[in-house]
Amino acid sequence: MSQQQANSQTDEWSDWLLHRRHAGDSDYSVRVRAAVKRISDRVLEGAKLRQDMVLVDIGAGDGLVSFEAIQRIGPSLRVIFTDISAPLLRHVEATSVERGVREQCSFVECSADDLSAIPDASVDVVTTRAVLAYVADKPKALREFFRILKPGGRLSMAEPIFRDNAYETIELKRFIAAQPAESRNPFLPLLHRWKATQFPDTPELMSQNPLTNYSERDLFRFVHGAGFAEIRLEFHMEILPCITNSWEVFVGTSPHPWAPSLATVLANQFTPEERQLFEQTLRPVVEQHQSTSTERNTYITAIKPFAKS
Ligand SMILES: C[S@@+](CC[C@H](N)C(=O)[O-])C[C@H]1O[C@@H](n2cnc3c(N)ncnc32)[C@H](O)[C@@H]1O
Repeated sequence: MSQQQANSQTDEWSDWLLHRRHAGDSDYSVRVRAAVKRISDRVLEGAKLRQDMVLVDIGAGDGLVSFEAIQRIGPSLRVIFTDISAPLLRHVEATSVERGVREQCSFVECSADDLSAIPDASVDVVTTRAVLAYVADKPKALREFFRILKPGGRLSMAEPIFRDNAYETIELKRFIAAQPAESRNPFLPLLHRWKATQFPDTPELMSQNPLTNYSERDLFRFVHGAGFAEIRLEFHMEILPCITNSWEVFVGTSPHPWAPSLATVLANQFTPEERQLFEQTLRPVVEQHQSTSTERNTYITAIKPFAKS
């Protein structure tokens, strides 16, 4: 990271997590928070935290998992917040001061696949939520989680599975290409143009992108390969109603930090006529609460076994 980036107030991660994820809308932000809390609560249930433990939260973000852990366990829990984003670590440090829990927290700026600042066998629990999706070398990150855990220590994680989003985008592209130009629905190429800013639309791009080149079974394999035992995986797939019917919020958000908002796509990649057709078609669907999203999440818990004597 350059000195300029290190000193900057925001980066792509903090910008998305603290602003773009909820389009700067405080009401929508509360609903997003409730939706992700459902997932982080499962991670914490899997973590089986107790008094006097040391927890490391990998890619802690704005502290969703960590602060809830502190709330549940109290002052004896020590929490190490790690993140690749210096602005987010500053943000959670400020939050820890506001909440009066700074004393039990420490902050480490590092990538999930290089935890060298944390000694071997020094922590009781590793949690992570929606972080490995952005890490290119997932097996290396899991080996690092294994290394820092004490024997008998526990991993509890949740990751989104985005590969089906890529398959859908690839399929949409193929479908459009297979239709004769004269009978093609003119909305579909615009839909594809937007979706292709979020997910890869060729098998080659999909296999190169850390966001889409793994399945829940791959994650299971990586956890096993790192040396973990008692591995348990649950895959949850749900079709959920869109949690906003505001067009302004809908166009202002993006599904992950690497995707631009729809507003940015409309402004930069569409002609005025295309913008009009796109909005005419999609806006009523959003405003009449007919839009849905399919969410796929994988939950994994595992134990670092004691060495055999
Ligand atoms: C979608 S957010 C999730 C944040 C938090 N875990 C939560 O549950 O709300 C992804 C987080 O991963 C962090 N991140 C991205 N790449 C990372 C990497 N290579 N190593 C560690 N953290 C990373 C980002 O800075 C961000 O905080």
